[in-house]
Amino acid sequence: MVKTTISLIKADIGSSPGHVTVYEPLMVRAEEMMEKAKDENLIFDFVVFNAGDDTELLLTHDKGVDSEEIHKLAWDTFMILGKEAREIGLYGAGQDLLKDTFSGNIKGMGPGCAELEIEERPAEPLLFFAMDKTEPGAFNYPIFQMFANPFNTAGLIIDSKLHAGFKFSVMDVYEAKFVDLVCPEEMYDLLALIGAPGKYVTKYVDSKNPDLGRAAAISTDKLALIAGKYVGKDDPVAIVRSQSGFPAVGEIVEAFTLGHLVSGWMRGSHRGPLMPVSLDYSQCVRFDGPPRVVGLGFQLKNGQLIGGVDLFDDPSFDATRDKCNEIAEYIRRHGPFEPSRLPLSEMEYTTLPAVLQKLEDRFRE
Ligand code: 13P
Ligand code: 13P
Ligand code: MG
Ligand code: MG
Repeated sequence: MVKTTISLIKADIGSSPGHVTVYEPLMVRAEEMMEKAKDENLIFDFVVFNAGDDTELLLTHDKGVDSEEIHKLAWDTFMILGKEAREIGLYGAGQDLLKDTFSGNIKGMGPGCAELEIEERPAEPLLFFAMDKTEPGAFNYPIFQMFANPFNTAGLIIDSKLHAGFKFSVMDVYEAKFVDLVCPEEMYDLLALIGAPGKYVTKYVDSKNPDLGRAAAISTDKLALIAGKYVGKDDPVAIVRSQSGFPAVGEIVEAFTLGHLVSGWMRGSHRGPLMPVSLDYSQCVRFDGPPRVVGLGFQLKNGQLIGGVDLFDDPSFDATRDKCNEIAEYIRRHGPFEPSRLPLSEMEYTTLPAVLQKLEDRFRE
């Protein structure tokens, strides 16, 4: 059986104005470079898109996950784009490119990466999600909804192929350790961890049916932990398989209808509602946000991405967007006060500690 690998790799290589959105001519440049890689048979197919100020490379190939060739292609592309961004004078040029030389794997170098290797089913619906102005743990809530909450995913109850539930692999991003928990059996343990999305991040979801294999992969790369300081937010990505043993497309996108609160937004230091938007609105404006998610859907066939759909380009998400605007309006009124601003524990990796340090000597007994 032929296996196909899907790699979704992203980086903020510079943007305009400020951290709002990717500069269109550089997306065209990225497309040209991917077209060349396709001509050279390095990749089967590709899509270049943006989530706010992050450039997203969606690649299909047969090189497996963690392929040095594919990671190098993405890294070299981002490095060229970063250089051009610097010449053009874009903001934060090369922001997520934290290392000088490629070391065999893009992980730990700044860009975010989610990958799946699958045996294509006769019909393979695949969904992709990319967020801006937030952290990888922002996927914890919707991924849980899709794969574990029967109030979101009807198939968990009424479809015998989903009824057994799914296995979650959760990463402690500070310790770089993993724990596997199965649902529904260990649901409360799972929630005890992933309810703290700053530390525990869902990395993979697997079907309990070994024939189906991996269901979802999420990037867990944390910029501040690599750089040791605040340089920007992680802005994660996820790949989710759908239908015939996995949640239906409609069950997957349903998971984004709360406008759930996530960490990030202005200067990576605030809480805000995650707004699902179409690619046309994939730009972060108000208070550099609110944090956003875009979604793309395809049928995968022999490595080709067929029939792309901009999933949130639909009036059925207007109510969620209205609610997000209302929540954004309310929470903004708190200004610098918690819980609008993140708690001190999460502010450790922002620009606040430098300010607090100046006051240290002025505290009296
Ligand atoms: P169709 O009958 O339109 O194929 O839909 C089936 C389904 O399960 C939708 O969730
Ligand atoms: P990005 O992480 O999207 O670059 O945003 C950084 C920021 O500080 C926004 O206010
Ligand atoms: Mg940026
Ligand atoms: Mg960004």
